[in-house]
Amino acid sequence: MAASERVLITGGAGFVGSHLADALAETGHRVVLFDNLEPQVHGPASTGRPAYLRPEHELVRGDIRDPAELGPVLRRSDVVFHFAAMVGVGQSMYQIRRYTEVNTLGVANLLQLLTDDPGGVRKVIAASSMSIYGEGAYDCPACGRVYPRLRAPKQLASHDWEPRCPTCHAALMPGPTDEDKPLFPTSIYAINKRDHEEMVLAWAAAYGVPAVALRFFNIYGSRQALSNPYTGVAAIFSGRLLHGQPPLIFEDGQQMRDFVHVSDVVHACRLAMEKADADYQVLNVGSGRPLSVLQVARALARELGSEVEPEVTEKFRAGDVRHCFADIRRIGDLLGYHPRVQFEDGLGELVAWVSQQQNVEDSVTEATRQLAARGLTR
Ligand code: NAD
Ligand code: UD1
Repeated sequence: MAASERVLITGGAGFVGSHLADALAETGHRVVLFDNLEPQVHGPASTGRPAYLRPEHELVRGDIRDPAELGPVLRRSDVVFHFAAMVGVGQSMYQIRRYTEVNTLGVANLLQLLTDDPGGVRKVIAASSMSIYGEGAYDCPACGRVYPRLRAPKQLASHDWEPRCPTCHAALMPGPTDEDKPLFPTSIYAINKRDHEEMVLAWAAAYGVPAVALRFFNIYGSRQALSNPYTGVAAIFSGRLLHGQPPLIFEDGQQMRDFVHVSDVVHACRLAMEKADADYQVLNVGSGRPLSVLQVARALARELGSEVEPEVTEKFRAGDVRHCFADIRRIGDLLGYHPRVQFEDGLGELVAWVSQQQNVEDSVTEATRQLAARGLTR
């Protein structure tokens, strides 16, 4: 492997891509960021580069769906990280064409260009998502390991939140989700991400160009878009608390996710680029530790020194799963990845950044209204 490579990061002006760019530049790689500076992420007046982007990174403004814009940057790359996407799970349920165009046709465009002219690209790394699993894995006392589907509307209407065994209806224990769990994506975003992952891997196998699909769990850290009402829950809660408003918790707040610090995700990306051991595979990237949404809200309030109590709405967001956290043994075995940042330590970095932000809009109320108006929160 060449010591210094030309690395293209699509969606590289965003949260994860910009952190990866910094880490790659520090190890001598030349980084090109390809990004349309989507207004929902970068603000409505986003005409220039985000202030957090280091000057040494080349930023090419373009749309992932446009071959004329993407082709020239692809042709001068050795490695491609494909991160450009629309990322709001709830929003994907009513902006179906927009999400499918960016997330699915976007990768189709990239793969078509690589097929027509592979240039010097030696590896493609795709940002997949734990959302493609649907519900996580569970253990039933009578039936063993089970994979329940989305909870029925009738069950949710009675605020009975926990999934039941699909065979004997017993109460279940959530367990770590591994990569072999059958995929039951429950939102348009998740279906897009599953398609995108499978398209990259099928293309890679056909053309013999190594690819890795990294299934990211819930990433948190500095640079997570705060003005975007459809950003991740840790950023949303931070924005609310900063405005003295309570985090709005769906269900009873006991639903569990796997919160992984962005620096650990960057580390996993670098390992997938540098080592060949995970080529043509899918890998979970998480912390391996389940945390409830209520725990996250309380920890953030503590870090921000806020006395505001979270508001448990007992409402349900369409497409949400109850529990999903990562089994990270495969990425540990193949790439030697082990998470380094404990949630309690990583939160400080998020909160320090949130506290420095000016003009943080609290658009969450409007986003919640949009979902409610369409019957997507009940
Ligand atoms: P982000 O919104 O911060 O970054 C995405 C970037 O893509 C933005 O800079 C945006 O401007 C750009 N973009 C959007 N539409 C585009 C288009 N049509 N053409 C070119 N660029 C476009 O999101 P992120 O959190 O950094 O996510 C990065 C990737 O990781 C995404 O593919 C996302 O689906 C995936 N992912 C993220 C998480 C998470 O918790 N953040 C978890 C799982 C998977
Ligand atoms: C997030 C990412 C998605 C990624 C997935 C992988 C964003 C916008 N979405 O989706 O791109 O693929 O992780 O793990 O970054 N919740 C509340 N109140 C809120 C918002 C959310 O209680 O105001 C709850 C939700 O109901 C859910 C949990 O928090 O139970 C996580 O929600 P969210 O941060 O949107 O994450 P995902 O839907 O998992």
